[in-house]
Amino acid sequence: MLIAHLTDFHCMPDGALLGGKLDSRALAADAVRTVTGPEFSPDALVVTGDLTHDGSLSAMRAARAATDLSDIPVFVVPGGHDDYETFAKVFPEHVMMGNDTRPVLRAETVGTHRFVCINTLGEGELPNWTEAMSEELDTVLSEEPDMPTVVVLHHPPFQCQIPVSAYCQDPTVTWARPLHATIARHPQVKLIPCGHVHRVFQRIWAGALVSSGSSTVVQVDPNFSDFWTSAAEDRRNFSLILEPPNFLLYHWDGSEFTVFNLPLKRDFPRVA
Ligand SMILES: [Fe+2]
Repeated sequence: MLIAHLTDFHCMPDGALLGGKLDSRALAADAVRTVTGPEFSPDALVVTGDLTHDGSLSAMRAARAATDLSDIPVFVVPGGHDDYETFAKVFPEHVMMGNDTRPVLRAETVGTHRFVCINTLGEGELPNWTEAMSEELDTVLSEEPDMPTVVVLHHPPFQCQIPVSAYCQDPTVTWARPLHATIARHPQVKLIPCGHVHRVFQRIWAGALVSSGSSTVVQVDPNFSDFWTSAAEDRRNFSLILEPPNFLLYHWDGSEFTVFNLPLKRDFPRVA
């Protein structure tokens, strides 16, 4: 099993560039072509939210056009920049298990692995997760306790020192406590790909590997010195960095995932 991970396309509405500079639609499409193409031939692609920058229908359709370039199974969740109703309209097969609370969007098996997509969207860019939502996830995870499982979501479920919005208002990340308890009860959950913070990092959390991906457009650096000062809503000073984006590949060897962090640019010169 080989899984490709892209995130945070931030597709713009028709005719617009991100920050007046970046054609985020073209970058998303190029990224999907690159990671799902013959160089790697993964078995599945996960895309962990912020498909759009403004939540608009035209931007969501551009994100859909990008993911449709893949001929392998794709698992997509909405992010804080997306509008849920628009997401559900444009990606209807990705909300097959949706209901009023919409905690579990989709659960499907590809080969040896099960993919469970969950919706962590709250107000604005903030995450939300409740005990009731966790109970529903627990029910879904209990259906296949022995199958290695990938839980796909947008928000990293812990404080990760990257001063973008969602965590500044919830320093102890209280929203994720019931999610932690549920994941910890299901050791078959091996991998939790996420997005939101535009930086690659990994951490073991609740017994699973949480893996944050690189945005296809701009990145954000962690802050280990004055995070809380810079994170305050009226004093945020993080930069959106125009560095070359990466993507992640997760290779399953029969017992665990190994993570590969590779540049989307594939034509660097070879010296040998
Ligand atoms: Fe984002």
